Amino acid sequence: MGYKDQIDLTKLPQHIAIIMDGNGRWAKGKGKLRIFGHHNGVISVRDIVEGSVELGVKYLTLYTFSTENWNRPKLEVMAIMELLVSTIDKEINTFMENNVRLNAIGDLAMLPPKCYVELSRAIKTTSVNTGLVLTLALSYSSRKEIVNAAKQIAAKVCKGELKMEDIDEEVFENNLYTHDMPNPELLIRTSGEFRISNYLLWQIAYAELYFTPKLWPDFRREDLFEAILDYQKESAVLA
Ligand code: FPP
Repeated sequence: MGYKDQIDLTKLPQHIAIIMDGNGRWAKGKGKLRIFGHHNGVISVRDIVEGSVELGVKYLTLYTFSTENWNRPKLEVMAIMELLVSTIDKEINTFMENNVRLNAIGDLAMLPPKCYVELSRAIKTTSVNTGLVLTLALSYSSRKEIVNAAKQIAAKVCKGELKMEDIDEEVFENNLYTHDMPNPELLIRTSGEFRISNYLLWQIAYAELYFTPKLWPDFRREDLFEAILDYQKESAVLA
């Protein structure tokens, strides 16, 4: 019996967040340039999105580019941005066919204009879809997101729109980029690193953490199903 058949579809995590890591090492292991790893990483992205749709997962959030990633060599950054544009271009029909709504979180104003325009267009086109919400974390930093939320709340207090004593966790969450989605119940990180790397720090407070040694370009839907199964076993122990 495959992993999929063992999954209890009535107890799926609503929101899965993934730290896609190991593209560079995967490419290096094959004697290729890092960008070759990113290109193959896109194949994994497609498979994981399809696997999520197949199961009926509601939210999938992928750590696609962190604010720290801007410090990588210029050529690599440009190549990732181009890959993003070409992937969105290529996948938009599949998103429409599969009822996938594209979303993005992060400091999107930092993105190259072409990338921003293409992303905004795809977000608008897919906004009619009601199935999987696929969120790309781009130019994302969780600490920045939290500081940003604090600033927004402070501004509301200064303007008299909010009383200080009314600030609570719900108010805070409403000022995060993720205000319109539930918190992830499962966080997956590939490539054998046991770090969170400034990803959804507030949101993963109660998430199950799943680390796998597989490098991202080797990660496929069977691996996702295995992680979900592990999550369900852990949740059953806690229940
Ligand atoms: C991490 O591997 C990967 C990235 C920083 C980029 C992720 C980008 C993609 C998978 C392609 C574009 C995605 C979409 C959604 C179109 P790494 O480079 O940090 O690998 P390393 O840790 O082995 O160096």
